Amino acid sequence: MLISKDDRLSFEKSKPGRRGVTLPRERFCSADPLQTVPKHLLRQSPLLFPEMSESDIIRHFINLSRKNFSVDTHFYPLGSCTMKYNPKVNEWAAHQEKFTALHPLQSEETTQGILEILYEMEEGLKEITGMDRFTMQPAAGAHGELTGMMLVHAYHASRGDKARRKVLVPDSSHGTNPASAALLDFHVVEVASDAHGCVDLKDLERHLDEQVACLMLTNPNTLGLFEKNILEIARLVHEKGGLLYYDGANLNPLLGLARPGDMGFDIIHVNLHKTFSTPHGGGGPGSGPVGVKKHLIPFLPAPLVEKAKEGYRWAKGDPRSIGRVKLFHGNIGVIIRAYTYLKVLGREGLLKVSEAAILNANYLKEKLKPYFQVAINGPCMHEFVLSLKSCGAQGVHAGDVGKRLLDFGFHAPTVHFPMVVPEALMIEPTETESKETLDLFVEAMKQIAHEIETDPENVRQAPFTLPVRRPNDVLAARKPILSYRDMVREKALAAEVAA
Ligand SMILES: Cc1ncc(COP(=O)(O)O)c(C=O)c1O
Repeated sequence: MLISKDDRLSFEKSKPGRRGVTLPRERFCSADPLQTVPKHLLRQSPLLFPEMSESDIIRHFINLSRKNFSVDTHFYPLGSCTMKYNPKVNEWAAHQEKFTALHPLQSEETTQGILEILYEMEEGLKEITGMDRFTMQPAAGAHGELTGMMLVHAYHASRGDKARRKVLVPDSSHGTNPASAALLDFHVVEVASDAHGCVDLKDLERHLDEQVACLMLTNPNTLGLFEKNILEIARLVHEKGGLLYYDGANLNPLLGLARPGDMGFDIIHVNLHKTFSTPHGGGGPGSGPVGVKKHLIPFLPAPLVEKAKEGYRWAKGDPRSIGRVKLFHGNIGVIIRAYTYLKVLGREGLLKVSEAAILNANYLKEKLKPYFQVAINGPCMHEFVLSLKSCGAQGVHAGDVGKRLLDFGFHAPTVHFPMVVPEALMIEPTETESKETLDLFVEAMKQIAHEIETDPENVRQAPFTLPVRRPNDVLAARKPILSYRDMVREKALAAEVAA
C-alpha cells in the first residue's frame, strides 16, 4: 500500500504528553523554577505548543524546508537582490562562542576583538567605496537610505538652508528610495530616463534648483547599466547646492573597478547582505552601513569606533550627530560574516567577484537574446532586464514565466521591476554560478519561449510541481496568515461560507 505524503501541520501531529526535549534543569537553575518564580508570574493555563518527539519534529521541519527555494538549493537569479552563495566559513566565524556570548553592554576593555573587527570593517569599506567614514548601525539597505535622508536633512539644516525640501529620484529607482525620502517629509520628484536607460540630463537640469536637497541614484542602475554621465550628474547637483546619495544595492560589479566616492557621491549605503555574501530574504536580518564624505562626518550616528594608543574605543559623537538609528552597534552577526568574506577574498578576490558577475550577466543576456527582447541592448553590468511585452499577444505575463521557471528548479527572476520596462523580467545570475548552471537556465528559458508560442496555457497555469501553486498575492500581503490560530480561523470561516 502506498502511504500518502504527510502534509499535516505540527499542531495536527501533536500527541498529549509526547516530548522532544528534556531541559537540563541543573544547568539553568539551582532550584525548581516552579518554586522560585513568584506565583503571580506563573502561567495559569498550559502553553499551546505541539507535543512531538524529537525525530518527528526534525522530520517535520526538514520536510518543510525542502519545499522552499534557497540559494543553497537552487539557482536564484533574483535581479537587484544579489542572491549569491553564502560561504559556510562566514557562518563558522559568526558562530564562534567568543562572539555569540558577547553582550553589547560589556566594557571596551573586554570587547577589544569585536571593536577591532568593526574598525577594520569600516577601513575595508572606506577603501572599497572611497568614502571617509562609516556607521555600521543601519540594519538594511532601506534603513541605510533612511539614515542617509536624516543626514541630508541635518546637513542642510545646519547651514540654515531650510528651503531644500525636494529629493530627486530617477523613474527607474527602487521603491525604497522615494519611500525613505518621503518618511523625512521630503517632496519626491521623479527624473526621466533617456532612450539608453540612464538619467536624462536635460530632465535632471529641468528639476535642479535651490530647493533640491539631494539626488538618489544607484549605479549601475536598476536596468543593470552604468551611468556613464555620473561625473556630469555630480557636477550639476553640487553646483545647485544639493547632495548626491548612492544606493549601494548594486555595488557588486564595482569592487576594485570603480568607487562611488570617486564618482562624487556624498553619502552611500552598502548592503552587506548582498555584495558581501551574507544571507538575506524574508525580511532580514541585514546590514546597511552608511558612509559619508568628510563634510558629513559630524552628522553620522554615534558612537563610532576609534583606534587609540591604548586600544579600540567608542568615540563620543559630535553634538551635530543625528543620534542612534539602531539599538547598540548594528547587526553584529551579519557584520562578522561580511568581514570574513572580505578577509578570505582580499583585494584580488573582490576584483574577480565583480568581473565574474559582469561576465555571467553578459553571457546570459547574449544567450537569451534570440528568444526574448532585451529592454536596453548593449553591454550590461551584473544584471539585465528582459521585456516580455510581446508575449501579451499570447496572454502571457512576466510573472507567468517566473512561475514556470519554478517547475524547472530555478527561482524566479525579479518580475515587473523596474517599472519603466513593460513586463520586466530582471535577471542577476551573480558571480558564483557556473557556466553549466547558466546553460541549464538558458535551456529552460528556451523551452518556455517555445511554450509561449505553442502552448501558452501551460505557462499561464504553472507551476505544476510545487505544493503551493498560485497564492493570491494581494491577500497574502493584506491578510497574511502568520500563525496556526489564523489558519484555523480562516478554515472555519471558509467552511461557514461554504455551508
Ligand atoms: C536597488 C535597491 N535599492 C534598495 C534596496 C533595499 O535594500 P534592503 O532590502 O536591504 O532594505 C534594494 C533591495 O532589493 C534594491 O534592490
